[in-house]
Amino acid sequence: MDAFLYQNNELFAEQVALKQIAQTYGTPTYVYSRRHLEERFLSYQNALQGREHLICYAVKANSNIGVLNVLARLGSGFDIVSIGELERVLAAGGEASKVVYSGVAKTKADIAHALKAGIHCFNVESEGELEAINQVAAELDMQARISLRLNPDVDAKTHPYISTGLKDNKFGIDIERAPAVYQRANSLSHIEVIGVDCHIGSQLTEISPFLDALDRLLSLIDSLAEQGIVIKHLDLGGGLGVRYQDETPPEPGEYVAAVLERLGERELTLAFEPGRSIAANAGVLLTKVEYLKCNPHKNFAIIDAAMNDMIRPALYQAWLNIQPVTPRAEGVSKRYDIVGPVCETGDFLGKDRELILEQGDLLSVAGAGAYGFTMSSNYNSRGRAAEIMVDGDSCHVIRARETIADLMLGEALLPE
Ligand code: LLP
Repeated sequence: MDAFLYQNNELFAEQVALKQIAQTYGTPTYVYSRRHLEERFLSYQNALQGREHLICYAVKANSNIGVLNVLARLGSGFDIVSIGELERVLAAGGEASKVVYSGVAKTKADIAHALKAGIHCFNVESEGELEAINQVAAELDMQARISLRLNPDVDAKTHPYISTGLKDNKFGIDIERAPAVYQRANSLSHIEVIGVDCHIGSQLTEISPFLDALDRLLSLIDSLAEQGIVIKHLDLGGGLGVRYQDETPPEPGEYVAAVLERLGERELTLAFEPGRSIAANAGVLLTKVEYLKCNPHKNFAIIDAAMNDMIRPALYQAWLNIQPVTPRAEGVSKRYDIVGPVCETGDFLGKDRELILEQGDLLSVAGAGAYGFTMSSNYNSRGRAAEIMVDGDSCHVIRARETIADLMLGEALLPE
């Protein structure tokens, strides 16, 4: 299953040595495994076999069109939060009719664009948005399919920055308001109510918060049916966690089975919006040690990747496994902080890592396939990394390393 394994003391991505990738394409570079992406997608799909379903990969996790294309070829749908993401999906060969559109601040122009493209449905996040969608659809003489994203007020028990289903969070519509908002939606001439949706947070390592949310949505669905509002599609969002260190999240199959059991006889199309659980462990960030700086009280390994390439450790204190590409059998093992070139104290990818290192060594930062490149920036005027997709024994450049010209694209001097 793991696509990144040692063979003869060399770390490989599938059948390609990471050392080879560094030599050919340079560093820092994101390296993805096609096989891992496919296996993770199929683990959802297999668990849902025999039942109407839609797996909408959350594009924000990794939006490279090469990655989206791998999933689109397997029939994946997509969860988007912007028109930029929609256009990426279409460029990657994804079908608009399998797209769900989340996000709290869709503009009227966004709504019109998505309607014309023919998306499956809008995940509506506020009453104001519902009215806006109706208005835009009326102007275009179209019907807009909608699902309300509800905030079920459950604790996802994850990092506060990535917890989204509590009353204090900006996402979704308060579940207490749901019956009234469904009535309103049902009365609007250019709205077709199809679904109920929620997304309670990310990197959940237990099933119980999902089931708590599900129970609340199911009891709402049952009471809406009594009022003549028939819900056809139930979307539980994304959020299933992965193992970065010693977490033991359920496998997608286990999670889906638990949900199916709770659904009973209800004939609902089941939708999921997984991002991290498909992409995170499908990628590593390959980087080189530029310098070792050893003080009496602290050892630093200064690498060529930085917080602009991978911000999760700085932003969420996320722990990512850092492995030597060619482990050294001999040398002095030291405890290193793995830091980047950016001028910020928070610029680290790992702290207190026991490693035997020499200048020029290559390191692989694991679990970098989701929320890695997509959250990268040009801070400190650093060009963004290259992205490579490994497929068996071949490599494909799915994003070229940014050049100096790319960095200044669209900028201008003032006139004389
Ligand atoms: N659906 C919606 C509406 C979402 O907001 C998200 C993620 C997902 C699906 C996908 O969730 P996943 O399966 O990936 O957990 N940058 C953070 C994660 C932010 C997640 C935001 N929403 C991180 O690096 O941990």
